[in-house]
Amino acid sequence: MLSYAVALIGILVVFNSPLNDFLFSNVNPKQCPGQIPQLRRIPLSKLNLKEDLIALEGNSSLQCMPHTPAPVVHVYSREPLVLYIENFLSLDEREHLLGISSSAKNRLLTPHPSEPLFEPSTTTSDGGQTTHRNTTVRDSEVAVIPRTDRVRCIENRAREIQGWRENVFIERLRTQRYRQGGHYNHHFDWSSNRGGWGRVSSFMVWVDDGDGSLVGGGTEFPRMKRSKDPRWCAFIECPGKTADKGDGLEQTPELGVTFKVIPGNAVYWENFRSDGTGRGWVEAWHAGLPVEKGVKVGLNIWSTGYIE
Ligand SMILES: *[C@@H]1O[C@H](CO)[C@@H](O)[C@H](O)[C@H]1NC(C)=O
Ligand SMILES: *[C@@H]1O[C@H](CO)[C@@H](O)[C@H](O)[C@H]1NC(C)=O
Repeated sequence: MLSYAVALIGILVVFNSPLNDFLFSNVNPKQCPGQIPQLRRIPLSKLNLKEDLIALEGNSSLQCMPHTPAPVVHVYSREPLVLYIENFLSLDEREHLLGISSSAKNRLLTPHPSEPLFEPSTTTSDGGQTTHRNTTVRDSEVAVIPRTDRVRCIENRAREIQGWRENVFIERLRTQRYRQGGHYNHHFDWSSNRGGWGRVSSFMVWVDDGDGSLVGGGTEFPRMKRSKDPRWCAFIECPGKTADKGDGLEQTPELGVTFKVIPGNAVYWENFRSDGTGRGWVEAWHAGLPVEKGVKVGLNIWSTGYIE
């Protein structure tokens, strides 16, 4: 009886999920065939773009110097758009991020000087209105990092890569630390489409792998096609050679790709289709796989804004 009730709750949760609206609906059956259903939007001025959540761009005369080795961008996928960026961060920036996330000498920059920045991560199912900790779903520590000049330069780089997209705002940068067993179950980075606005894109940036001692902790997209070109094996997990089935048929592209943890590098993806429907990409479903050994530190750069 209890399990029946639990199953029923599960079904209700699935059918009431805002995610469903993204994936399966927003299509008005009464509209003319061929006409793209348009999102109904709340105006920009009604959005709560507060400085504690959004890294407002400002107009200060920030000097950002190019770093070496220079970033190199590879298009991984066109639909959805997925970019792989080598050397997104310099070694110096990685050290700086680790320093401001956990070192005592930088605590003065934080709103709560007496506390370490890293704190347990939470999840939300209603677009951030309520959050809770559930280590079955997500086990890591998060730090909303102070906006030092170097951090602002990283924010600017994330804007540049996105082509200074109109009405899209970088959220305050967060580092995430995953210790042994730490993980984040499969999820989408958006949890609600609020009046045509949402978390339109994500960067997963790898900051630290404990000088190479890390085992596990890759970023997995089970519904995204795996590239067959062996050159991608530098950045993604490639299975060992499988025996040729001998039928002379070309293998269909396999589903599922796991990006390796390579400090300094990043993967960028878009969360929503740009067809005016407000639907998300199912391919964007992803997980931070469990850390088997060592410690992983990642940097999340999320952008919130206009869903095209
Ligand atoms: C932006 O420019 C205005 C006008 O020049 C100035 O008053 C303001 O302080 C500047 N803001 C920042 C964050 O630099
Ligand atoms: C944590 O999440 C798991 C998986 O969704 C769920 O089974 C469990 O009941 C949750 N625990 C709490 C305390 O919410």
